Amino acid sequence: MLKSMRILAITAAAVLTTGVFAQNYPTKTVSVVVPFAAGGPTDTIARLYGEQLSKTLGQPFIVENVAGAGGVTGTSRVSKSPADGYTLLVHNVAPHVAGPALYPGANYDPVDGFEPIASLAEAAIYVVVRKDFPATNLKEFLAYAKSNPGKVSFASAGSGSATHLACELLKQQAKIDMLHVPYRGTGPALNDLVSGKVDMMCDQGLNVGAQLKANTVRALAIAQDVRSQAFPDVPTAREAGLDGFVVNASTAIYAPKGTPAAIIKTLSEALFAAGRSEIIAQRLEQLVSERPSGNRMSPAGLKSFTAAEHSKWTTAIKSGGIKIN
Ligand code: MLT
Repeated sequence: MLKSMRILAITAAAVLTTGVFAQNYPTKTVSVVVPFAAGGPTDTIARLYGEQLSKTLGQPFIVENVAGAGGVTGTSRVSKSPADGYTLLVHNVAPHVAGPALYPGANYDPVDGFEPIASLAEAAIYVVVRKDFPATNLKEFLAYAKSNPGKVSFASAGSGSATHLACELLKQQAKIDMLHVPYRGTGPALNDLVSGKVDMMCDQGLNVGAQLKANTVRALAIAQDVRSQAFPDVPTAREAGLDGFVVNASTAIYAPKGTPAAIIKTLSEALFAAGRSEIIAQRLEQLVSERPSGNRMSPAGLKSFTAAEHSKWTTAIKSGGIKIN
């Protein structure tokens, strides 16, 4: 009897401490892990929202770049971090869900092994080629790739990154073979496209937008069913002759599994308000990105989106034999 009363008292004290602790959150610096190199789309979005969270929640939200293995290195780190709200993960949803299907060492469950908080931004994927590539539209490009199997090289932010997965989907759907050249982030990958060391990329508008404006690379198509406002002259993949090539690069924020619900609520409310603010809307527009659609800004909405992307990408990886290199 005495023993069970003591257990009850300890449990009640623990619940009370967690509750009080969650209510006061945050009381110190929060580390926001970005599993790609600084300067790329995931990093840019994490810094944009991190700045807003620091202002509204009164503690610094500091981005930490833990790049490697297409995002798996940083994601593994967060999955093993204490679930106290002081380590968070900002990731691109496609590589987040694809990691364990591609890397045998990725011992985490991307859907149920994290607490989803909010989607932060969405960016279209553009099919871009080096300036002097011998094709002026998608049809010519695909015909060239078909008659030169394995010769056209494409750069990515790493094996399993969104820029890699999108091009693998393009290969599957257009039935072409291309050579993958992985980098540690989209920044260095794009540099080599601009200098002509690689032939093409399936890159996010946020990353490639400035180069498109400067005409240093050429866009052949956008992987969505509507043209973008930023580059209305770029045809959709369907208009350019490739039906069904639709890829959305979505950046989202997650916490380690078991993070108290009160902390998730504090963060999701602050992020929702930031996402609706004029300042974020303007910045996203400048960054050739958009606010998340539907209810993906909510933890429940992000959870179902993450599950849907998980099944889409694991199927594509299995059926297309996508591998890391
Ligand atoms: C990707 O998955 O390609 C990432 O968005 C790359 C990055 O953010 O640098």
